[in-house]
Amino acid sequence: MIRLSDGSLFIWSPVALSDVLRASVDALGPVRYLVSPNALHHFYLGEWMSAYPAARLFASPRLRKKRKDLGFDGDLADVPEPGWAADIDQVVVRGSFMLTEVVFFHHLSHTVLFADLIQNFPRDWFKGWRGFLARRGGIVAPNPGTPSDWRNSFFNRRAARAAIGQILAWPIERVLIAHGDLPSGDGAALVRRAFGWLLGHRGA
Ligand SMILES: [Fe+2]
Repeated sequence: MIRLSDGSLFIWSPVALSDVLRASVDALGPVRYLVSPNALHHFYLGEWMSAYPAARLFASPRLRKKRKDLGFDGDLADVPEPGWAADIDQVVVRGSFMLTEVVFFHHLSHTVLFADLIQNFPRDWFKGWRGFLARRGGIVAPNPGTPSDWRNSFFNRRAARAAIGQILAWPIERVLIAHGDLPSGDGAALVRRAFGWLLGHRGA
């Protein structure tokens, strides 16, 4: 959740809405925007729309087709919506035939928000061969990164590199992710390392 300068809330990739969560959301401010960062993160949007009918719902690329049951108010694009542009910037990471993610940056806290492009599972999260694959796939702490199948789906690397370049131009201090432990330390360095496979600092 991000509280915008007008006091309203921007909800990124909402999870299941429990009574406890709802109470803490309501204590922070009115829910103004509900945002899906990519077409895999959409399960709870309907639930939140029912709870907060005044909120405006924004679709990530390709999500409208997938969720025809949801009434979207807009589509996320390369420029932030006027309603949150003063607080949050965004970049659409294109180039993969599999998945397109919209990455956000909160100016005030210098925080970048990644849903699936950077994952950081604890070392003991996956057992046995799954653990081996996860480590080899580059999504296990202390080396957070993009899952290998997704990396391989970036056929247009130039487009992806351009997007990551825009992201790295933000004064990043913190990195917020949807999967795994929250990374600590130098956020910009972490993002640069996580996309080494794309930027050429380490092998693909
Ligand atoms: Fe995810």
